Amino acid sequence: MTLTPFETIKKAISRRRSVFPPSYTNQVIAKELLTELLACANAAPTHKLTQPWRFVVFRGQGLERLADQLAALYKTHTPPEQFLQKKLESTRAKVLRSDAVIAICGSYNGTVPQREELAATACAVQNLWLAASATGIGGYWSSPGTIKHIGDFLELTDDQACLGFFYMGYHDEPPREANRVPLPAKVRWEE
Ligand SMILES: Cc1cc2nc3c(=O)[nH]c(=O)nc-3n(C[C@H](O)[C@H](O)[C@H](O)COP(=O)(O)O)c2cc1C
Repeated sequence: MTLTPFETIKKAISRRRSVFPPSYTNQVIAKELLTELLACANAAPTHKLTQPWRFVVFRGQGLERLADQLAALYKTHTPPEQFLQKKLESTRAKVLRSDAVIAICGSYNGTVPQREELAATACAVQNLWLAASATGIGGYWSSPGTIKHIGDFLELTDDQACLGFFYMGYHDEPPREANRVPLPAKVRWEE
């Protein structure tokens, strides 16, 4: 049975979940596909066409450099009484378990309010996330405290900031329902 465009998009939206690195398989994501997924991100809406999203894609040895960097930042910026060796190890492991990790960055030049640039960048990530999910690639947006300190490593300029990391990999996780407060609690109709 052929789905209508609305049924297709509804299905893609409802099936998208956060999928975490322990569920990733070793299957490699083709670079051409990854580029197509990034093109989906690049189609996001944006006020005054500022297109503020910037991505740094880590793969292969790049993942090892990122794992080392995130672990080093965790060690440097975590107060000793909060430091957990297990957390340090899992920080490294989840990067190395991924086929790709994309640093999600936003740039801000004052053309529109910064919140709009954040919103547009999040729209881009959602496009990427939905498109990835529709091809069987799992992913999730991670926003550790260390992103405040990662600008130099990512070679960001003063008007750019890292908003998190998108971990990606093919996976073997069964579908699960979204956990959401029902809509009536969030919508008021005036008619
Ligand atoms: C901006 C943003 C930041 C997030 N940061 C984290 C994070 O640091 N750690 C985490 O486990 N999940 C993070 N998530 C994923 C959410 O936990 C997840 O989207 C939420 O639980 C809903 O689950 P679902 O994506 O499967 O629908 C983030 C999501 C967004 C949109």
